[in-house]
Amino acid sequence: MTDWLPGPEWERGQTAYVAIADAVAADVARGRLLPGDRLPTHRMLARRLGVTIGTVTRAYAEAGRRGLVRGEVGRGTYVLGLRADDSDIALAVPASPPAEVDLSRNLALPASTPPELLRAIAEAWRGVEPSALLDYQAKAGNRQDREAGVHWLPPGLRGDPDRVVLTAGAQHAIVSALATVTTPGDVVVAESMSYPGLRTAADHVGVRLVGLPMDGEGLVPDALAAACGRLRPRALYCTPTLQNPTGAVLSAPRRSEIAAVAARHGVVVIEDDTYGFLAPDAPPPLTADLGPLGVYVTTLSKSVLAGLRIGYLVTEPQLATRIASTVMSTVWMAPPAMARLATRLIETGTATAVADWKRAEGRRRLALAHATLPTLAPPGAESSLHCWLPLPPPWRGVAYTAASLARGVLVTSGEEFAVDWGQAVPQGVRLCIGTPADTVGLRSALQALRSVLDGPPAAVH
Ligand SMILES: Cc1ncc(COP(=O)(O)O)c(C=O)c1O
Repeated sequence: MTDWLPGPEWERGQTAYVAIADAVAADVARGRLLPGDRLPTHRMLARRLGVTIGTVTRAYAEAGRRGLVRGEVGRGTYVLGLRADDSDIALAVPASPPAEVDLSRNLALPASTPPELLRAIAEAWRGVEPSALLDYQAKAGNRQDREAGVHWLPPGLRGDPDRVVLTAGAQHAIVSALATVTTPGDVVVAESMSYPGLRTAADHVGVRLVGLPMDGEGLVPDALAAACGRLRPRALYCTPTLQNPTGAVLSAPRRSEIAAVAARHGVVVIEDDTYGFLAPDAPPPLTADLGPLGVYVTTLSKSVLAGLRIGYLVTEPQLATRIASTVMSTVWMAPPAMARLATRLIETGTATAVADWKRAEGRRRLALAHATLPTLAPPGAESSLHCWLPLPPPWRGVAYTAASLARGVLVTSGEEFAVDWGQAVPQGVRLCIGTPADTVGLRSALQALRSVLDGPPAAVH
């Protein structure tokens, strides 16, 4: 039964993992799953359903909670023997998830923003002039909003507002850049583990992603050079500062080497600086001197508010105009009301105050994470809202994720970040330390993770 797929319950369900667990229950009830049947591996089912491996891990844990299946160390997840009348019980078990601390979503402190900052944000809204929103705006965003964007950029990129395109966040900037500079079938290279939104963007645009080796500092320039010779990629996507998921920061010499390789081979570099606000001492952007081959992306979603769907993309004016046309073909223009609010937040200093507070909080939380989990890979900056926990053998990321979930802590296994499915990735998990509301919740979650690590390794297939 390793090819089991959920039936119609899966389509109807609201929350993916509950719907999969419901489908297991329904198939046990109707005899489609029999005692002793082995369910597909987490990775296989995730791939076939188009969900994350973490969702399948949660679904199997939920099915285990209802007494339907059991995960066996080193063997897999098996259907348990239920009596015919028990199956109703399994379906009727309330679907409410057990109390969990979620360290799996990379949220930048949503639940703990101080009231005075929330008041300042509300105040900035009051300054948004409705008459400025009566008409459509330029496809790259209006000049005042692009000028505000220039002030938000790192010093090496401040300059001509005609180089700036407003987008509806970083994801939209990445899709727009890829759609503009590639054609379907092109190869795009990236760090071997990367932000999962890159995969969905690449699928959408129809390009083939190939992962490149990384070391403790991030992308390896020689690997990029070799891939350029072998695969003739059209673009490189990378996150030089606080790489997602590893937290690595590329040094200045590495950045120069990568930029030089890209220039030599005519490869467009899409540099995602979403987390740059946490590392003001990081070296200047890799794309600062790459001319029309450089596309820099940042966003206010992590530094200020996730719902503030405004990103800033920076490149040479000619390419900026082409990317703005892609923005127009998708959303006409970045949401103007959001753009006005973003500008107000930048002009009034509120955006800086929020980002400064997040940086300080990220520093505090990272210190706590290090103190509790000494084997954490040190991020390349003093402050971060995500970090990487390498696992000692024989631990595997998926097994550790399942064992942590059993202790009520959600984390994300390295496999979720693999740029090509099936590619081997280092065994480890990403911890998003900015998600719990306070450090009390964070501390107990980190302690639970520590005790999982100190216990005997489990294996899940
Ligand atoms: C590296 C990276 N880039 C982009 C994004 C998405 O940013 P936005 O919400 O602005 O689309 C994320 C979100 O987690 C991210 O981790």
